[in-house]
Amino acid sequence: MALNKRRKMKKEKKRFLVTHSNPESVVSEQFRTIRTNIHFINGKKKSSIILVTSPGKGEGKSTITANIAVSMAQQKEKVLLIDGAIRSPDIHSTFKMANQVGLTDVLAGKASFEEAVVSSKIGMLDILTGGTNPRNPAELLASQSMVNLLERVKPLYDIILIDSPPLLKLTDSKVMAHICDGVVLVVKKNKTSLDSIFESKRVLEFANTQIIGTVVND
Ligand SMILES: Nc1ncnc2c1ncn2[C@@H]1O[C@H](COP(=O)(O)OP(=O)(O)OP(=O)(O)O)[C@@H](O)[C@H]1O
Ligand SMILES: [Mg+2]
Repeated sequence: MALNKRRKMKKEKKRFLVTHSNPESVVSEQFRTIRTNIHFINGKKKSSIILVTSPGKGEGKSTITANIAVSMAQQKEKVLLIDGAIRSPDIHSTFKMANQVGLTDVLAGKASFEEAVVSSKIGMLDILTGGTNPRNPAELLASQSMVNLLERVKPLYDIILIDSPPLLKLTDSKVMAHICDGVVLVVKKNKTSLDSIFESKRVLEFANTQIIGTVVND
């Protein structure tokens, strides 16, 4: 591997968990706003399930989800982060964890939630990684098992955050949006087009969910 590439990777890793290393940064402020909005939609309910998505690929969904999760865990919230991008999961690498068993294994009945969930050791942040690569990802996410899993774990946490694949490219995120309490829409500065933002808004309205916040990732 070229030295430059290695240096770049090192830089990216350092930059990664913004809120963990630098809780006073401007980016952290965006996450705090989202957190406040989550509390608003929560109302008297004990907890909420929030999907983080973006119109296209590589706009920062996984980065932002991980950072919101850490930000909330630092505020003493009990957080569950689920990697719902099961076709190419990467939350485990962010937190330097294995991904031998995860969401897909729980949904397929191969493992229990308790067997698959891992403590991150950052406050009360638990992580359910993506799991074994499935043959039928869309079906699994749309299954009754997914609804049952979320219903069962909801009372155990203050907030459940789900990372997801591109909203406009696959059905996965639409299906999950429908069973979540709200969506955070990530848009990438100088990359996400206005058209795809409008299209995302339309798609999410159709999925009968509300956008509780937008993160402009620059
Ligand atoms: N604000 C940022 N500054 C610099 N690099 C970033 C930023 N946000 C994301 N990245 C980098 O861009 C790449 C894509 O980010 P990320 O994986 O979070 O996007 P994604 O929307 O989850 O992608 P995918 O659609 O493939 O799941 C990663 O290498 C990540 O480290
Ligand atoms: Mg991702």
